[in-house]
Amino acid sequence: MRMYDLIMKKRNGGKLAKEEIEYMVGGFTDGQIPDYQMSAMMMAIYFVGMDKEETLHLTMAMANSGDMLDLSLIEGIKVDKHSTGGVGDKTSLALTPMVAACGIKVAKMSGRGLGHTGGTIDKLESFEGFSTGISERQFIDNVNKIGIAIMGQTADLAPADKKLYGLRDVTATVDNMSLIASSIMSKKLASGADAIVLDVKTGSGAFMKEEKDAFSLAKEMVELGKNAGRKAVAVVSDMDQPLGYAVGNSLEVKEAIDTLKGNGPADFLELCLTLGSYMVELGGLAADEKDARKMLEQTIADGSALKKLAQFIEAQGGDPKAVYESDLLPKADFVEEIASPREGYIKKIVCDEIGICSLILGGGRETKESDIDLAVGLVLKKKAGDYVKAGESLAVIHGNDREKMEAAKVRFINAYSFSEKPVEKQPFIKGIIR
Ligand code: URA
Repeated sequence: MRMYDLIMKKRNGGKLAKEEIEYMVGGFTDGQIPDYQMSAMMMAIYFVGMDKEETLHLTMAMANSGDMLDLSLIEGIKVDKHSTGGVGDKTSLALTPMVAACGIKVAKMSGRGLGHTGGTIDKLESFEGFSTGISERQFIDNVNKIGIAIMGQTADLAPADKKLYGLRDVTATVDNMSLIASSIMSKKLASGADAIVLDVKTGSGAFMKEEKDAFSLAKEMVELGKNAGRKAVAVVSDMDQPLGYAVGNSLEVKEAIDTLKGNGPADFLELCLTLGSYMVELGGLAADEKDARKMLEQTIADGSALKKLAQFIEAQGGDPKAVYESDLLPKADFVEEIASPREGYIKKIVCDEIGICSLILGGGRETKESDIDLAVGLVLKKKAGDYVKAGESLAVIHGNDREKMEAAKVRFINAYSFSEKPVEKQPFIKGIIR
């Protein structure tokens, strides 16, 4: 087999066979197939596309290119959740203790943030001493003992995707539905869960700006999951403005804790209950999502989700006291209001701009090597559809550097647009694919 012939076949509109895709992925991973040939193939796929069968073969070849986690030592159905990422997305922090308190086994691999969206691991490190650098053995023991563990991606999961994503990123071939779906699902399949709940965002702060693209991606990923023998559901939700009110690591941790105490923002709580109800249902602990939702609401009402979060933090070396006294979380030196420049209804918030404000304050990573400031960020006071008077607070900014705070404030205000007429609030959950 020659890569040249495969590129020609795809370029001319042909369909790649399973063995051809396996040859291409294997050869690229071990360095036999050079970047320039793989780049040409990615561009051919970008223009010609791949059908469902080819997409499945690509997903499986990438999933099998490195370690496949074996979670068979964990009893029961293991359910994973994956978000396509967004601003203020602290979902895993509240959702995982809620479902674990219902009895679902959560064995989760998480990543760090890069750019304007934050990562779960960074947020969790707001708890002093907390570490995701645990061994596979301890990971499995913790899930069996307390029902929940989160590990950094130390295992060599889907190395073909890692290499290919790097290449797509610099050859303008990221935004192809089959390539995105196979990239995400290859990592999820290699992580070993029996069931996967996908949190697909759409809007100005999301990867998929258009709702129809988010639905296509959701459908493609659910189908891939099912064809690979796993249970899968996707929830498409709004990311046209930040999720909840808090943006920034420790501020988001506090908002997740408040949610578990029963004082969470409505959109964030709704997302946790929706995703959670599918996790509990797929995990076989409820007859349907309605029953599952009741179980999840009960974990907030009786404090068991909050207790589960404290247990999880302690089991991974963190200080659980901060779960009950959020004053112990990292705090910024300066806290100031951002006043509205005018009166009116909030028409739109350019969501990724708010993520960039947090990045400017030091709350995000410019490169993989940069350090981040866990204390900084913003807490919004007004969101789309809300009415605001001139001079009234739009948000509270938390910073450790006055110059950065001034730059972030200007950018923050410019991200808001106003209307004299009332603005209709958009539905938050856009749909479910199962
Ligand atoms: N996230 C991924 O993991 N892969 C893609 O291709 C796009 C987003």
